[in-house]
Amino acid sequence: MKNAVVIYETLTGNTRKAGERIARELDGAGVSAVACPVLEIDYPALAAADIVIIGTWTDGMVLFGQRPGRVGRLWAKIPALDRKKTALYCTFAVAPGKTLAKLESMVTGHHGADVVGGLAIRRNCIEQGAETFVDRLLAPAPAVKVAPAR
Ligand SMILES: Cc1cc2nc3c(=O)[nH]c(=O)nc-3n(C[C@H](O)[C@H](O)[C@H](O)COP(=O)(O)O)c2cc1C
Repeated sequence: MKNAVVIYETLTGNTRKAGERIARELDGAGVSAVACPVLEIDYPALAAADIVIIGTWTDGMVLFGQRPGRVGRLWAKIPALDRKKTALYCTFAVAPGKTLAKLESMVTGHHGADVVGGLAIRRNCIEQGAETFVDRLLAPAPAVKVAPAR
């Protein structure tokens, strides 16, 4: 793994903070990484990336109906990923529910991503969560597999 891009959707900044920390951790591990908001995708970085990381926040009724935040924006703005290796994360307050599974279903079915795993990061543990995410991503076999959306 040499180049990574983190594409995130954020409302109040937590998912941006996680994405930027993930990019820094990857850089520190020798993987050149760029983090960008979904409305300002760094296309050269995306083209060069051998791993795409997509992050979003959890939108729902706290314990019910959770889904990726502003999912329509993710659907529309992320280009075709042509089987690129892709890892997912979401941030949440109380319970992420099926947010990651729904995100996986979308990026696999609509964008053609090859999803290798995902992690839900509680909003009061952003830094620790970002470190865990990178540790697992760089482990010989990714330890987290997202369950299919139902
Ligand atoms: C409209 C709205 C709905 C939310 N719904 C949920 C929810 O159902 N479950 C949950 O755990 N967190 C929920 N949250 C909390 C956010 O997912 C959490 O604060 C997240 O880290 C925000 O990311 P951001 O700062 O990148 O926007 C909600 C937040 C908002 C603004």
